[in-house]
Parts: sequence; structure tokens; C-alpha cells
Amino acid sequence: MPSLFIRALVPAALSGFLSCAAAQDAAVERAQYLWSQSPHGRMLERLLPPSIEPGQLPEPQSAGARLTARYCIQCHYLPNPQMHTPARWQPVVERMLWRMRGEGNMGALMKDMMAGVTAPGETEAATLVAYLRKHGQREIDPQHPALGTRSGQMFSIACSQCHALPDPQRHTAGEWPSVVQRMQQHMAWTNTVVGIPALRTNPELDTREIVRLLQRHARR
Ligand code: HEC
Ligand code: HEC
Repeated sequence: MPSLFIRALVPAALSGFLSCAAAQDAAVERAQYLWSQSPHGRMLERLLPPSIEPGQLPEPQSAGARLTARYCIQCHYLPNPQMHTPARWQPVVERMLWRMRGEGNMGALMKDMMAGVTAPGETEAATLVAYLRKHGQREIDPQHPALGTRSGQMFSIACSQCHALPDPQRHTAGEWPSVVQRMQQHMAWTNTVVGIPALRTNPELDTREIVRLLQRHARR
């Protein structure tokens, strides 16, 4: 499994690092090492879907982006700050800090997985949270008229499974189709059973109606 890891996974997740500064190279090498050595590699791979590379983080040169790239790839793919609302980031990061400090509740498994993981100090943690909150997702107004419709219901069920229900104003009508397509990949990724190919599932959600709804209420 470790070799599969290095070949199939690490290049995709971390290749963006290779063009970055030397300090980041060290962080990548470290993460690469951790992932390849972990007996729980398969599990680490499935915690968060692959989405962006460090160079694609908002304000990639900022302290917050550098801390995110340094600490948040130790156990899973790099998280996108736009995934969660500012309010949601606070408890998520607290949960992650808890783990990085070795206080997680998964007993021996976590201890194993934690070997070699480093945790940010108080100041760094505050910078991290402030950065993620600044670039967070914007939630739709719960009174938004679109939510009363049938397609609005579909949108709210399908699109609030992993994060807050997004504000249609966040993107233009031209941008929404590719965002929703990416989300469909995340959904397929989440639902793919690891193991025997015959057992793998890829439920299809017909997103055409959702895209049309988002486009009707999109940013102009
Ligand atoms: C010590 C290992 C570890 C580190 C380091 C870590 N995470 Fe996680 N992360 C996990 C585990 C385990 C899960 C799956 C269980 C869960 O969601 O709590 C997870 C899941 C997630 C999820 C998906 C679940 C959700 O609530 O959306 C996000 C987002 C996330 N982490 C963000 C981060 C961020 C941001 C950082 C850096 C500040 C970080 N992680 C660092 C172990 C880690
Ligand atoms: C299986 C989990 C999952 C589901 C279900 C899901 N998303 Fe996401 N979403 C993510 C993850 C992971 C990210 C961060 C990575 C990324 O942007 O690709 C994200 C980020 C976003 C963002 C912020 C990034 C951007 O480009 O603006 C928007 C908007 C979004 N999702 C919209 C949606 C919509 C609309 C749906 C319903 C069709 C949906 N999501 C369903 C996992 C999911």
C-alpha cells in the first residue's frame, strides 16, 4: 500500500508544493513521508477529497495560507478555505487542533496515526482560524425565495451534506456548472466503497435542475 500511495496519491496531492519555497518543500517531504509510512494510509486518503493545491489557496503567500499548507496536509488532502462558513471553521479547526495535540479520541489507532504529527502554537492557530474564516463559504439566506420551490428542496438536500448550503450569489451563471460538476465528483468520491470493485457504488444525482436554480439566482 505505501508504494501505491507514493505513486498514485502524493504526486496529485502535493505536486503544487514542488514549485514553492524551500521551507514548504520540507513540509511536503515530511507529509509525504508520514502518508507513505502510515499503516492507515487508505483511511487518511478518504478523509477529505482532493481539491486544490497549495498554490491555489486564496492569498497563497499569506501567513495563513502557509500555515494551512504546513499543518493541514498531515492527515488528509489540503482543505479549501471556501468549503466552510466562518462560523463553521472555528469548531472544525478546534477538532483538528485537538487531534494534532494528540488528544483525539480514537485510542491506539489515532496514536499510531499521530506519530510525527506537529501542532501549531496558540498564535499560529489563531492566524489559521482567522485565515480560514476570512475566505470562508457564504451561506444562503434561509428566507431565500428559491428554497420554497421543488428544485430548491433538492438543492438544499443535495448541497448541505458536507457544508452549509451555499449562497447562489457566490458565483455567476457561467461559473456554476463547473462548480456543481466538481461537487458531483466529491459526492462520487465520498460514496465510492474502497475495496472489491464489484462493491463500489457511484450514485448519480441529476444536477441539471440544481444548476438551473443556481443560475437563476446567480451573481450578475
Ligand atoms: C492529526 C490529523 C489531522 C490534521 C493534522 C488535520 N486533520 Fe482535518 N481531519 C482529520 C480526521 C481524522 C478527519 C475526519 C473526521 C472528522 O471530520 O473529524 C478530518 C476531517 C477534516 C475535514 C472534513 C470534515 C468537516 O468537518 O468538514 C476538514 C474540512 C478538515 N479536516 C480540515 C482540517 C484543517 C483546516 C486542518 C488544519 C488546521 C486539518 N484538518 C488538520 C485529521 C486531521
Ligand atoms: C460530498 C461532499 C460535498 C457535497 C455533497 C457538496 N459539496 Fe460543495 N464542497 C465540498 C468540498 C470538499 C469543498 C471544498 C473543495 C472544493 O471547492 O472543491 C466544497 C466547496 C464548495 C463551494 C466553495 C468553493 C467554490 O468554488 O465556490 C461551493 C460554492 C460548493 N461547494 C457548492 C456546492 C453545491 C452547489 C453542492 C450541491 C450540488 C455541493 N457543494 C455539494 C464537498 C461537497
